[in-house]
Amino acid sequence: MKVFLGADHAGYKLKEKIKQFLEQKKIGFKDFGTNSTESCDYPDFAKKVATAVQKNKGSYGVLVCGTGTGTAIAANRFSGVRTVQATSEYLSKMAREHNNANVISLGARVTPEKDALKFVETFLSTAFSKEERHVRRVKKIG
Ligand code: RB5
Repeated sequence: MKVFLGADHAGYKLKEKIKQFLEQKKIGFKDFGTNSTESCDYPDFAKKVATAVQKNKGSYGVLVCGTGTGTAIAANRFSGVRTVQATSEYLSKMAREHNNANVISLGARVTPEKDALKFVETFLSTAFSKEERHVRRVKKIG
């Protein structure tokens, strides 16, 4: 499994915690930054992660900004990228099972670290259901 990570200044610290978590789980990742709390623009990091996910079949993206909204909106502009703005474990699970989401977007200012790590764990360990109706619906998204 390959995971691409990206965050803006608001998501930087949580991204670093997610990296530690992935290291513990021995999950391979590539970090596109940002690498400090200095102000920067979330669409730049969403673009890096989204294009990496487009190019690497079966890969996943994890994005973090203040709310999880900006990075989700930006990443979803890229064809074949399906991003969930995860605010619960249920959404993290359903986004994989029903929507075959390949990117999870988290809000560092609104989601406690422990919860965010759980959402990432659930997202990465849940398979797409592959039931015909779900496959059909995801295909219709294009
Ligand atoms: C940065 O202040 C904040 O706007 C950004 O991290 C994000 O929440 C945008 O959606």
